[in-house]
Amino acid sequence: MPGLFDTFSLKDVTLRNRIAVSPMCQYMSNEGVANDWHRVHYTSLARGGAGLVVLEATAVSPEGRISWGDAGLWNDEQAAALKPIVQAIKSWGAVPGIQLAHAGRKGSANRPWEGDDHIPAGESNAWETIAPSPVPFGANLKKVPHEMSLGDIDRVQSDTVRAASRARELGFEWLQLHFAHGYLAQNFWSPLSNQRTDQYGGSADNRGRYLLETLMAVRKVWPENKPLTARFSVVEFHGDDECMLTESIDLLKKMKAEGLDSVDVSIGFNTPDAKIPWGPNLLGDIAARVLRETGLPGTTSWYIDGPEGADRLIREGKIDFASIGRPFLENPHWAYHAAKVLKIDNAAWQTLPAPYAHWLARYR
Ligand code: NDP
Ligand code: FNR
Repeated sequence: MPGLFDTFSLKDVTLRNRIAVSPMCQYMSNEGVANDWHRVHYTSLARGGAGLVVLEATAVSPEGRISWGDAGLWNDEQAAALKPIVQAIKSWGAVPGIQLAHAGRKGSANRPWEGDDHIPAGESNAWETIAPSPVPFGANLKKVPHEMSLGDIDRVQSDTVRAASRARELGFEWLQLHFAHGYLAQNFWSPLSNQRTDQYGGSADNRGRYLLETLMAVRKVWPENKPLTARFSVVEFHGDDECMLTESIDLLKKMKAEGLDSVDVSIGFNTPDAKIPWGPNLLGDIAARVLRETGLPGTTSWYIDGPEGADRLIREGKIDFASIGRPFLENPHWAYHAAKVLKIDNAAWQTLPAPYAHWLARYR
């Protein structure tokens, strides 16, 4: 079995190692436009040796943002600001990916360090949220979302396709649809937030329709030779987890048949009442089951137990590559650190530029 520092190929894309930077919102954009913060942040992560850098949840429309600071890709100015970031990531040998998202009923919130709560209607930076049903998240997100009409559904799917086209034009090589974490797609998938009685609600087939249709529409504009992936919450740790897991696996099989290339297995975050069993390698076994039963290549994140834990999950065949989040915020050169911990020589050391590598190799 390969390890963390073996290459990984999917379609025509090859990652130099099996380390992905998990998408992480920076909430530092203005009107969805990236700036110096993002240029430095993403360039550092690519320079630090990751194989894949997936840009943060990037909204497909203004109301699809979580907060006013979210990244967006619904206009030319946003696309132009992303272009040098894509080029910088590539120039440092990493594959540039982007996560396209719509926040659904969790949108219109303050930035996390400014309260994380919904901004009341009428105040600046507030907007009407939309979701499959007028059911609020609860806790600090009490806004009742507007129930989406069929026209609204069509519009958001078209927005997603347009954003995917822009991502293609920008040279992103890896596209991730955000079907997780209590945002719009998850709002459709979960019975906790979807109480519709039309073709988008009720049975698993109906609740999955929005996701499947979105994937199929995006597949038409996303190049066949580049990975089209989804981050998908297969469990909510609320209610009947086995049922949700089984239904999620079935939906993923349908997505695979329609062109999904890979899945990032994640958690629902669709209710404040979830009982998540936080701990090391939290999703390792669940991800292994999902990948085994769907036949999809994939990944997971959440408290992966350091470089050894990531390497082990891959060598045991549980995941194909590891998605690392917060450790990359602490140390953008986490890949370099992992190579050192795992005693990987040469190639991994050389991922760092000479002004760093020379001295670190000499005195390690
Ligand atoms: P919250 O951050 O409000 O968390 C929901 C519940 O899970 C809370 O009880 C919280 O505990 C607990 N929790 C969340 N993360 C952790 C953790 N890492 N370790 C232990 N307990 C945790 O939920 P959100 O819906 O805002 O975010 C869900 C997750 O997704 C978070 O982990 C967040 O970091 C991540 N995230 C995802 C984004 C996206 O997909 N676009 C954007 C930003 C974050 P407590 O109340 O003690 O914090
Ligand atoms: C996240 N996470 C996240 N997930 C996602 O799918 N899209 C996103 O934009 C974000 N944004 C985000 C911001 C911040 C600040 C954090 C800490 C997390 C979740 C992230 O990708 C990852 O799954 C988790 O952080 C768990 O992995 P770690 O941190 O345990 O390695």
